[in-house]
Amino acid sequence: EFQPLVFSGVQPTGNLHLGNYLGAIRKFVALQETNNCIYCVVDLHSLTAQLVHDDLEGQTRSITAAFLASGIDPKKHIVFNQARVLQHAELAWIFNCVARIGWMNRMTQFKDKAGKDRENASLGLLAYPSLMAADILVYRATHVPVGDDQKQHLELTRDIAQKFNNDFSDRIAELGLGVEMMMGEEKVNGFFPITEPIIGGPAARIMSLRDGSKKMSKSDPSDLSRINLTDDADTISKKIKKAKTDPEALPSETDGLASRPEAENLVGIYAGLAEISKQDVLNEFGGQQFSVFKPALADLAVEKLAPIAGEMRRLIADPAYIDSVLRDGGDRARMLAEGTMKSVRQIIGL
Ligand code: ADP
Ligand code: NA
Repeated sequence: EFQPLVFSGVQPTGNLHLGNYLGAIRKFVALQETNNCIYCVVDLHSLTAQLVHDDLEGQTRSITAAFLASGIDPKKHIVFNQARVLQHAELAWIFNCVARIGWMNRMTQFKDKAGKDRENASLGLLAYPSLMAADILVYRATHVPVGDDQKQHLELTRDIAQKFNNDFSDRIAELGLGVEMMMGEEKVNGFFPITEPIIGGPAARIMSLRDGSKKMSKSDPSDLSRINLTDDADTISKKIKKAKTDPEALPSETDGLASRPEAENLVGIYAGLAEISKQDVLNEFGGQQFSVFKPALADLAVEKLAPIAGEMRRLIADPAYIDSVLRDGGDRARMLAEGTMKSVRQIIGL
């Protein structure tokens, strides 16, 4: 059996927002209590959409600061940035040769990000999920907490692990490198685990505050569309006040949110921040107008986010400390990753 190990990553592009926090980072913090965890700032991924960045180093430090300010313990767990551990890129190359072009072409994120001019997207953008699979599997991680938008990439990670395990099954057995694991009811043997995503809860997919059909995203040009982790209290209140809604009062049952994406999103945000269910929120606010609910939501968001923003500012003022965390985490990650790669090279015959 594989030892349980949690891995996840966040790109150092743009401002971290409430979707990143509720969909991912808050889960990272919860999981560290009972698991060994590796949390990575995936700087190599940020080159796929745009090669040249103003301040990649500063962005990397800022995501690291957000991890630490949210409560991730870099002594007990591993916090580092991807570019420090070249084994990610090495395994990604091998996975580029395991995965099929057809698998990549089906990825909805690629289609969204590449847009109409697909021939001009970088090859890296197409291969993105292969690097993501390498990030996870270079540690043979068993669990990956992510937002709902990453579900398809996690399925691809499982497909890559499975194809590698199948294609090299004889070599893996010959070298005694296989690990027994359960796939549903079936017992199988493989070198890579079939990683489980950890997705779900009321905040797995936070939508834009301006458009209930788009997810809240770092890359949305409208700053009013998202609440950034570093927004001050006035900005948070203003953005929630301006959030798109409908004229109806809140329903008393979650069924009543079904065709009201903007209302559902705000209720989901409240539920995520308060760590209760959407129904609990409606038990409290059902029948109320947004003029009552929005200020309550703004207060809650400020209460939860202001301490994180304050701690982030304190940490960002000490870049030498952040760099020391990344260096130490990178050194520990590299030892683990090199252990995996030694076996992978043997299996392949490199
Ligand atoms: P973004 O999608 O904003 O560019 P990343 O790709 O770096 O950010 O994603 C970091 C983590 O945050 C991933 O686990 C992703 O699934 C999660 N995430 C991103 N946007 C949202 C959202 N709107 N709601 C919930 N989780 C999200
Ligand atoms: Na994303």
